Amino acid sequence: MVENAEVSIPASARGCRLRCVACGTEFERAAQDFRCVDCGELLEVFYPSWKTGDPSRAEELRTIWLERRKSLDALDQSGVWRFRELLPGMLDWNKVVTLREGNTPIFELPRCAKSAGVKRLVGKHQGMNPTGSFKDTGMTAAISVAVEEKFRWVACASTGNTSASMAAYAAQAGLRSLVLIPEGKISWGKLSQALDYGALTCQLRTDFDGCLGLLREVIRRLPVYLLNSVNPYRLEGQKTVAVELLEQLEWSVPDHIVAPGGNLGNSSAIGKALLEMRDMGLISRLPKVSVIQAAGANPLVRTVRENRGKSLVTVRPDTMATAIQIGNPASWRKALRVLEATGGAVEEVSETEIALAKAEIGSDGVGCEPASAVTLAGLKKLVKSGFVAPDESVVLILTGHVLKDPEYTLKFHRGDLFAGTSYEGDAGMFEGHRREPLILDADADAVVRALEAAERADIRS
Ligand code: F0G
Repeated sequence: MVENAEVSIPASARGCRLRCVACGTEFERAAQDFRCVDCGELLEVFYPSWKTGDPSRAEELRTIWLERRKSLDALDQSGVWRFRELLPGMLDWNKVVTLREGNTPIFELPRCAKSAGVKRLVGKHQGMNPTGSFKDTGMTAAISVAVEEKFRWVACASTGNTSASMAAYAAQAGLRSLVLIPEGKISWGKLSQALDYGALTCQLRTDFDGCLGLLREVIRRLPVYLLNSVNPYRLEGQKTVAVELLEQLEWSVPDHIVAPGGNLGNSSAIGKALLEMRDMGLISRLPKVSVIQAAGANPLVRTVRENRGKSLVTVRPDTMATAIQIGNPASWRKALRVLEATGGAVEEVSETEIALAKAEIGSDGVGCEPASAVTLAGLKKLVKSGFVAPDESVVLILTGHVLKDPEYTLKFHRGDLFAGTSYEGDAGMFEGHRREPLILDADADAVVRALEAAERADIRS
């Protein structure tokens, strides 16, 4: 029998409160499923004591954050906790569980810029986090809360990255972790991480949405701390990607931020950070935040286009970008608010558009996993439609590392990613993008001939 050892700490002890995003009811403590006990919608963190619109405070914060870059302290070295003035406080700062997450680079993407039709393009690479995805920035915040609340078990449903991240942070914290993943629908890289970090890993014969529904039942029966992005503390940590980005851009606001959409926690967190930074006077205007989904897993796109955002259109998801194979996204209301507040767009992209965009990001020497590549594929469409002008500044949020899903990459370059699918006939569009490995005799002449052939092909193209 699992011991019920958790202690619920009021949000005000962390300098914040919780509020339902639908009915506005405020709470000091969240229910175990982090949903409003009145209407069942999600909660968000807010900070009643923040001073807004004070330029001297904004300047002071910028200086403190930059100063911390020189510090050897673990909290200051974390690209999340360096911005702790914008996060829920800890009762004991020594209890923070950090793998020095955040601190991710922005990379130039010159070939991608050309193919999208913009003058300059950069990618903020969240795949450079300790477990290879953006999830780490939220996990450090939420796991630290779980430790203070004395939970022994943490759990998540996942398409792979959340589980890898949770398992790592739980292991660092000395907690047990339970992972529910859809059987056969996540990449081996991510599954292997959860195993290596010691999670109790259950592959369920359902999809991600089924896993999340089932986990809600498990947490009703056991004292397990829920670490999906319905956990509002996770989104607070994930906010810091936008703060760090603005700092890297020397507080010059880009015209557009483009993010992939799955369960819609990430885009919600980015939008929340931008609104808070504007209220605090750290930035004077908002970038447009656009959300891109795979056409086979497009509930937000359909919700906006068919239902004008009134109620969620759920879908039966089907995409090879398994990270975003989600049909019933939990944070859809929060993401809609971000689209409205920033004037962003939603767009959907096909499987072949994703594969091509992923290869293009690779050819800039950056690389990412398929779900992240929807950003470039979506940007191309937004430029074509005129929503993004060629001279506007654009940042793509690249959410996962290229090594997360090597099987996809190998199949693409070998030419069998779409074998036996309805896209088989479209392979021509990958001409010049596939780089198949050559199998040669162990012979220097053969290698020289291969190089010369490649050189001739370069000159022709
Ligand atoms: N990109 C990657 C690489 C992801 O792993 C995810 C989500 C997303 C984009 C979408 O972000 O859900 O916040 O809209 N992965 C989750 C998981 C669902 O379980 O790892 P979102």
